[in-house]
Amino acid sequence: DGELRQWQGPMNQVQSPVCIETMEGYQQKIIGSSPLLTSKESLEALTAAHKAYNKGQGFWPTLKVKERIQYMEVFVTEMQKQRDEVVKLLMWEIGKTLADSTKEFDRTVTYIQDTINALKDLDRRSSKFEIESGVIAQIRRVPLGVTLCMGPYNYPLNETFTTLIPALIMGNTVVFKPAKYGVLLIRPLLKAFCDIFPKGVINIIYGRGRDTVGALMETGQVDAFAFIGTNKGANDLKKMHPKPHKLRSVLGLDAKNPGIVLPDADMENAVAECVTGSLSYNGQRCTALKILFVHRSIVEEFLGKFTEAVNHLKPGMPWDEGVKLTPLPEPGKTDYLAGLVKDAERHGAQVVNAGYGGGEVNETYFHPAILYPVNDQMRVYREEQFGPVVPVVAYDNIEEVIAYVVSSNFGQQASIFGRDPQKIAELIDELYHQVSRININAQCQRGPDVFPFNGRKDSAEGTLSVSDALRVFSIRAIVATKDQESNKD
Ligand code: G3H
Repeated sequence: DGELRQWQGPMNQVQSPVCIETMEGYQQKIIGSSPLLTSKESLEALTAAHKAYNKGQGFWPTLKVKERIQYMEVFVTEMQKQRDEVVKLLMWEIGKTLADSTKEFDRTVTYIQDTINALKDLDRRSSKFEIESGVIAQIRRVPLGVTLCMGPYNYPLNETFTTLIPALIMGNTVVFKPAKYGVLLIRPLLKAFCDIFPKGVINIIYGRGRDTVGALMETGQVDAFAFIGTNKGANDLKKMHPKPHKLRSVLGLDAKNPGIVLPDADMENAVAECVTGSLSYNGQRCTALKILFVHRSIVEEFLGKFTEAVNHLKPGMPWDEGVKLTPLPEPGKTDYLAGLVKDAERHGAQVVNAGYGGGEVNETYFHPAILYPVNDQMRVYREEQFGPVVPVVAYDNIEEVIAYVVSSNFGQQASIFGRDPQKIAELIDELYHQVSRININAQCQRGPDVFPFNGRKDSAEGTLSVSDALRVFSIRAIVATKDQESNKD
């Protein structure tokens, strides 16, 4: 906080997506600013991280695991004191509802505590000796070096911390760039970072990706890269590293998760799960259901019930009681979504809920548009909308749906809704090689966070979960000697 107050360079004004009513109508509000660092200033952060790491000889990487855990325990206690402030900023900066913002904060605290417990367990196991073919060995996990962490705007706290925390606790030093929208909420935590961790262990940079992160990549001095966002963003940055093949990367990328509703599905449950699956946080989740395939025999009934359920979702300000639909933080997003809807209409789809405001725009707010019948001529059939547009396809044979999933560039998750265990099992067998998680009679989601979170094809690289992340940000080192007993004869 103090550092920001003294900042002399150019600043980036942060606008809230939440429009406030004024005499002139609804207007966005400037709620703060963050520095715009130059390449030179970002490189100073990298230098500080390397100095603290000191080729593995620094204070932080040479600490005992239990000592690093103590630092993290102090941090999480301090972080909890900032709960109200961070939750408030989540609502203002990215328009997330009070319930979801609170959940994001609490889930992050739990994530850190689970990470501490997983590391204790890993440490216990790696202090044991293994004997194999006359060799006795201890296998330890050691840090990689300097990690660059970048998170997305939709989970600016939680997803960023799912890489930053494990990287840090494993003994790496970190350069961390907060999301473009969702940057102010780091401020209340900044003091805790600075007060608790030794200098240079965690370094925060702000600004435009190319000037800041790009400059870091070009040096070739980044050892691990954790990025959650788009394929394009990840590839553009990775390409700037002189040895991208040497860069340990953990990437959470685009997805187009299908919800598949079989003819015998429990209709009430399928509708409820598809509504929250496609529209919670306005569909701005990588795990959202982004296309629904409904068997033709039940599609009319499904659409009727789905539309009715969407009509019951309350739009409004993030902090208002019971609100489920909120303004969108990305500038130009409402135009993009309106364009997707127009394109679908041109190719024969209708906005099923047009009579109830479907697809209407009010400043930064876009009311969910349910599109039907969607076909492969429309952009929304393949493109990840990452917003409140729900394309519905009627299918006759399940092979059509399987063909869609097989031919997709993405492979994160899928949901199957049905009652016949045999039919579900057959579909699982078909989809298993295409996506990383199949949800039965339930929406797609990342949690619980102790489960592996990854994806196939262009949806991810590497695996995140509490324990996987500890492995991702470390490497195994073996200390071995001859087993005197077995080598006696
Ligand atoms: O945006 C992608 C997130 O990983 C989604 O997480 O399924 O917990 O909402 P979630």
